[in-house]
Amino acid sequence: MHAKHSAPAAPGASQYHEVMVPNYAPADFVPLKGAGARVWTAEGDELVDFGGGIAVNSLGHCHPALIEALSEQAHKLWHVSNIVTNAPALHLARTLCERTFAERVFFCNSGAEANEAALKLARRRASIKHGTGKRTILSFRNSFHGRTLFTVSVGGQPKYTEHFGPLPEGIEHLPYNDIAALDKAVTDETCAIIAEPIQGEGGVIPGNVDFLKALRAACDRVDATLIFDEVQSGVGRTGALYGYMRAGVVPDVLTTAKGLGGGFPIGAMLTKREWAEYLPAGTHGTTFGGNPLGCAVAQRVIELVSAPDFLHGVETRGQAMRQELARIGDAYGVFREVRGMGLLLGGVVSDAWAGRAGDIVKAGHAEGVWCLVAGPEVVRFAPPLNVTEQEMGDGLARLERAVQRLVSAGS
Ligand SMILES: Cc1ncc(COP(=O)(O)O)c(C=O)c1O
Repeated sequence: MHAKHSAPAAPGASQYHEVMVPNYAPADFVPLKGAGARVWTAEGDELVDFGGGIAVNSLGHCHPALIEALSEQAHKLWHVSNIVTNAPALHLARTLCERTFAERVFFCNSGAEANEAALKLARRRASIKHGTGKRTILSFRNSFHGRTLFTVSVGGQPKYTEHFGPLPEGIEHLPYNDIAALDKAVTDETCAIIAEPIQGEGGVIPGNVDFLKALRAACDRVDATLIFDEVQSGVGRTGALYGYMRAGVVPDVLTTAKGLGGGFPIGAMLTKREWAEYLPAGTHGTTFGGNPLGCAVAQRVIELVSAPDFLHGVETRGQAMRQELARIGDAYGVFREVRGMGLLLGGVVSDAWAGRAGDIVKAGHAEGVWCLVAGPEVVRFAPPLNVTEQEMGDGLARLERAVQRLVSAGS
């Protein structure tokens, strides 16, 4: 068993239900501090973090360069609102434009908000350019785009919209990776297609390159907006700065959040000049969007992550992790497949373990490794992109022990 550390007195997870709205079901430990891919809990445990705050902590916990960027900015300027612009926001927008297809950037605070902006932009463009008949948004089953009413309705998991109606209209859901279904659904009324290049929450399912190309072709055919939701797949996660670069398919709008701030909340919508012109002054906004603290941290994240050597390292570490997960999966019969890209990986449970991804994650906690689920059939791994060999080795050894225990307990 991993070593205990002596933790200061802190509230335990059991207090959650005394003071919090019960919309989450938190694990029974409370992280107190972190460094790299390790966290230490209020219960006195040390964990290897293979979840990365759900693909957020792109450079691990408390990366010195991010602490420096945040502290430097904290001594200069925290918030000014969008009544004015600010230097870190301009710098970051320019960097994002230089390193991606984008020509214009809108900043916000989360993935849902970035998608909300993208969907509103697509609707507004179609309405102004083509009239109000062009408003259908095509999305994909099992996709996840956030929890605002619009984004959760566009997302392809009906359980998340139950009892929240009436829902926004003009949204259709298609099977993912199905070109024939796509071609049948696209009409002149199609306003936008929104897709994750890899479905994250839906089970770590990579989009086929031919499918992603078909999305581009369909949008070109009917002048619809192609939105890539790279909230989870972006910022180096796949081994490219953004997943679209691996597929060679360029969207009109791309949304990014999660890993962009390495743990500091920030989101962004990247787009082309022509699209940006459909959101003139006064049509959309958010108080904290482009906050100097968030932009200063994200600037450092993008500079570090977009270095070719760093991205190559993500690919190499991803391959090593994938191989070892496949070995553990085979040796104990828990995974029938390990899929994904770069350091966004999913172990798909075998028939014998159907519906039990959560049990594997729980057993991992007990052995000192913190993994995620992506639905009941997939154990998801999204460690820091700079996870060290030692951290990865320790985490995988703990996972193997956890799986071994579960299997030998026969439960
Ligand atoms: C692909 C994708 N889009 C959007 C979101 C929503 O992001 P946020 O929770 O920051 O609103 C998520 C979150 O998991 C996501 O994975």
